[in-house]
Amino acid sequence: MSREIRLNAFAMNCVGHQSPGLWRHPRDRSSHYTDLSYWLDLARILERGRFDGIFLADVLGVYDVFGGSPDAALRTAAQVPANDPMLLVPAMASVTQHLGFGITSTLTYEPPFPFARRLSTLDHLTKGRVGWNIVTGYLDSAARAAGRERQVAHDDRYDIADEYMELVYRLWEESWDDNAVRRDRAAGVFTDPSRVRAIRHAGTHYRLDAIHLSEPSPQRTPVLYQAGSSPRGRSFAGRHAECVFVSGPSAAVIAPRVAAIREAARAQGRAPDAIKVFSMMTLVLGETDAAAAARLEEYRAHVSHEGALALMSGWTGVDFSQLPLDAQVRHVESEAGRTAMDNITRADPNRVWTVREVAAHVGIGGIGPVISGGPQRVADALEDWVDTTGVDGLNLCYVVMPESFESVVDLLIPELTRRGRYKPRYAEGTLREKLFGAGKARLAAPHPAASFRPSQG
Ligand SMILES: Cc1cc2nc3c(=O)[nH]c(=O)nc-3n(C[C@H](O)[C@H](O)[C@H](O)COP(=O)(O)O)c2cc1C
Repeated sequence: MSREIRLNAFAMNCVGHQSPGLWRHPRDRSSHYTDLSYWLDLARILERGRFDGIFLADVLGVYDVFGGSPDAALRTAAQVPANDPMLLVPAMASVTQHLGFGITSTLTYEPPFPFARRLSTLDHLTKGRVGWNIVTGYLDSAARAAGRERQVAHDDRYDIADEYMELVYRLWEESWDDNAVRRDRAAGVFTDPSRVRAIRHAGTHYRLDAIHLSEPSPQRTPVLYQAGSSPRGRSFAGRHAECVFVSGPSAAVIAPRVAAIREAARAQGRAPDAIKVFSMMTLVLGETDAAAAARLEEYRAHVSHEGALALMSGWTGVDFSQLPLDAQVRHVESEAGRTAMDNITRADPNRVWTVREVAAHVGIGGIGPVISGGPQRVADALEDWVDTTGVDGLNLCYVVMPESFESVVDLLIPELTRRGRYKPRYAEGTLREKLFGAGKARLAAPHPAASFRPSQG
């Protein structure tokens, strides 16, 4: 039997997100991102389409590699201005029952103790629908904003992240026993102090001596997402991630990456399918193939090539303003993201990219593929993509908000459901249970989080 295809919506608390320039499109509402009603409407649309989750990206710096200044990013709204993703979650949770929330947080600039509490708070308020996209950052501007000269070297960031994870696992899993909270009015005991323990840690990068401040939340550890595909990124994912986001322009690029991630899980003693992999994609749907093609043409007219190259420069650490538009992009190693550069150079030896092609491609939904058509054609393409690459689902970017998601919900979801490739209803339970099955509310061995859970008498 063919597997169901899972869907996440990819968004960010900013304008346009992965489609720079499209905020100028007459139907786009993304410049209303400062209105709460914008987010509540989006949450309702996604739940109507039984999306597993909304994945909220975030960066803590500005894209200032292009031309050595933030001007291009500011002019074109390339992920700046950008507001905090976490603060959207309780409001969106209040108008939905099932939608999951994958929040990106850059651990490099977040002390683990208050961060762990914020995630526990959200897990309580959403009744266990929270996930965390673990990122370490790729922008020097974020490092400078945090008072550093530049960011920590690429692989070292993941070493720091490993230590961070141990600490937050211990806060979430070890500090409070399941039955620590008694709420016993007669005895006058809210929490049994003998069932709460301090976490003491003196490591290479962090020191901590504290009890976790939140009582146990439905999932304890939020569902863990990760999005780095470099060799070091993959080994981190193999150890910690429950879901991995990948992005690349074609199945030829994505398929080996998915296999390598599953192999990384195996190397850590986990089952290869313990990780659900989502690849980034943009769908442009219409009632017919011709209507969708016309819509895509109309969208392309609004792309900001400058904004696209400002994003690409930030992702790769390479200043694309210095290259002629018809120059071929050549691989260079940087301390920013490694995979973003691989995508347009050596990931597919049969594909050469000029700077102009990169700008045009990235302007519609970032580096992922763009598929357009009526419901039948898009459903065929999706089935083919999932079966060829081995991904579990897709992380869908928008071009025009909320039109892109509404057309998926109204045109594609009924077709996929009819084909048996999409869930007819949500499963009950927490986000982890919805993704991995009933009874899987907590992380289990051999995942490292489980090893910190004390045996409880
Ligand atoms: C789909 C996708 C979404 C991402 N979202 C974010 C994000 O919101 N914030 C961030 O700092 N990094 C984000 N990243 C970047 C990764 O976390 C990682 O830093 C980057 O891929 C470089 O790591 P690598 O060299 O190991 O691939 C994302 C990557 C992908 C593929």
